[in-house]
Amino acid sequence: MRVRSSVCAVALLLSSGLALASPPAGDVSAGKIKAQPCLGCHGIPGYFNAYPSYHVPKVGGQHPEYIIAALKAYKSGQRPHATMQAQAATLAEQDMADIAAFFASEHEK
Ligand code: HEC
Repeated sequence: MRVRSSVCAVALLLSSGLALASPPAGDVSAGKIKAQPCLGCHGIPGYFNAYPSYHVPKVGGQHPEYIIAALKAYKSGQRPHATMQAQAATLAEQDMADIAAFFASEHEK
């Protein structure tokens, strides 16, 4: 009985780990290129911010899961914002993963 339940626990852990890993893995260097159009607005320290005059949320250093979820919500129209919906509309899931990996790697530099 005892052995059985710990085997179950391990199986559960493994499958939840796999579930987390199942979306496409983000590639930071691909994301860096794909994120160029984003940086004009989401200027991150060390990068030129083209629009310092209006507020945009800081995306650099966010958790990749959060960035992907936000982009999917814009793409599906679930989250309203014309500008970001236009930005997200053309992104494939792999693009989102790459971009998210890049932004997530940009902790206070
Ligand atoms: C023209 C300016 C502009 C561009 C270009 C732009 N964004 Fe945005 N972004 C915004 C604004 C403004 C918001 C705030 C929208 C809102 O209130 O929902 C935002 C919100 C976001 C959010 C949600 C942040 C949060 O804290 O919830 C994410 C993630 C994001 N943008 C990622 C991107 C990515 C990735 C790109 C490039 C593909 C991009 N943005 C390009 C202006 C821009």
